[in-house]
This record gives sequence, C-alpha cells and structure tokens, in this order.
Amino acid sequence: MIKVSDLTKEFSQGQERTQVLKGIDLNIEEGEFVAIMGPSGSGKSTLLQLLGGLDVPTSGNIQINNECINKMKEKERTIFRRKKLGFVFQNYQLLPTLTVEENIAFPLHADGKLTNENSKMVQELICSVGLKGLNQKRANLLSGGQQQRVAIARALVNNPTVLLADEPTGNLDRAKAEEILSLFLKFHRENKQTIVMVTHDIFAAGFADRIILFRDGVIDQVISRKDSDYAKYLANFMA
Ligand SMILES: Nc1ncnc2c1ncn2[C@@H]1O[C@H](COP(=O)(O)OP(=O)(O)O)[C@@H](O)[C@H]1O
Ligand SMILES: [Mg+2]
Repeated sequence: MIKVSDLTKEFSQGQERTQVLKGIDLNIEEGEFVAIMGPSGSGKSTLLQLLGGLDVPTSGNIQINNECINKMKEKERTIFRRKKLGFVFQNYQLLPTLTVEENIAFPLHADGKLTNENSKMVQELICSVGLKGLNQKRANLLSGGQQQRVAIARALVNNPTVLLADEPTGNLDRAKAEEILSLFLKFHRENKQTIVMVTHDIFAAGFADRIILFRDGVIDQVISRKDSDYAKYLANFMA
C-alpha cells in the first residue's frame, strides 16, 4: 500500500543544509494502523508531509497504491492528495465560521460533486464521529475534542486510501485524547481504514498495530503488537 525507499529530505537556509530524513525505508500494509513516534525534531512531521505529497523529497521514492507520488507534477499530486488522502492535524484546521456539516462537506465542494448520496454520507459521518445533533453548529463554538471529530469526519469524507494524522491528540487532555484515538480504532477496525499517525506520546502510539520509533532522521526501532515483548515495551516507555 505505502512503500517508502531510501527517502531523504534536506532543508537549506542560506549556506546551511540540514538533513532531516537520512534514508528511510518503510512499508505500510493496507488496513494497517501505524504510529510514527519519536522526540520533537526527529523528522516525524517531515515524513508525514512527504507521504501526503505536501512536500517533495530530496531523494528516494514514495509509492502509494502503486503510484509514485514523488514523480508526479505538482498539479497531479494535488489531485492525488484530494482524492486519495485524508489529513488530520493537531490544531484541527477547520473553517471557523462554517458549520459542522459545511466543514465536513468542504472537500466534496472542492471536487464540485455534492450529490444527495454525498449529503447522506456526510450525515452518516456526523453520527459515526459522535456529533449527532450538532450539524448546524459553527466550528468556532465547538470544544477542542468536538473540533477534532469534525476534522476526522472531513478527512474521511472522500473515503481516502490513507488517513494521515499529525499529533491529532496534541491539544487534548487525556480523556479527550482517548476518545479521539478510540474513533481512529473504530474506523481502523470497522472500515479497515489505513492510518498513519505521528505522535510523540506513547499513550497515543499504543493504539496502533505497529510503532515506528524515529530518532534523528532515521528509524531507530520498530515494534509490533504481534511481538511478544510489545506490552513490556509500552510499559517501559510509560514508566
Ligand atoms: N520547512 C523547513 N525548513 C527548515 N527546516 C525545517 C523545515 N521543516 C522542518 N525543519 C526542521 O527539520 C527538523 C525535523 O522537524 P519535524 O519533522 O517537524 O520534526 P518532528 O515532527 O519530529 O518534531 C527540525 O529540526 C526542524 O527545524
Ligand atoms: Mg511534528
């Protein structure tokens, strides 16, 4: 589903060049829920931006569904992103004066295809993220947890191949974070939604099938729920 090979990313400011990703190899299966974990500045968001086609690598390859997104022209990549990917960010990034319903339907408008069928799907999504009755409420009047629910519904409205989330619980307290992570789990289990979630929080990472631990631009460790020492690993981290 996602195949990343020998991926590097360098940023230059003036004369100075920093290599942020130093050769990443990574395969993610269809239907997998993966957490990218690691300390601040280790390159997690940079990797997610590249996976999402929001930026281009310095070298290496990224295949999503057998399409090589780093070889696409910008316009082609934008279309791919709109059709195939869903994004959730730490700060929700909703349109504040639009309603819940309008925010969720927004990606459909961008494609000019708001049909009856789509409207029905928007209503279903509102229910499945637990916002029933709030259709007409303006986004800026919602709590943080509710805003993130809207953002998740918006990310899923195009039925994306992959849901990409960058610190989706970073602005939420533990209880609200757990609710949001449970929603991710629900879509992962019930719809086999492929999810790649960046987090620096082991509690959040513990919801995934596999944790990819980043350190300083390289993959330091990979641990899977199937591994016999998975629980011990998590416990050690939390201690
Ligand atoms: N657009 C950019 N220009 C220059 N440096 C950047 C840019 N984006 C990220 N960086 C640098 O890359 C490093 C990794 O950043 P990031 O991927 O955001 O880390 P993380 O998400 O793991 O905290 C940081 O040192 C950051 O300053
Ligand atoms: Mg980050």
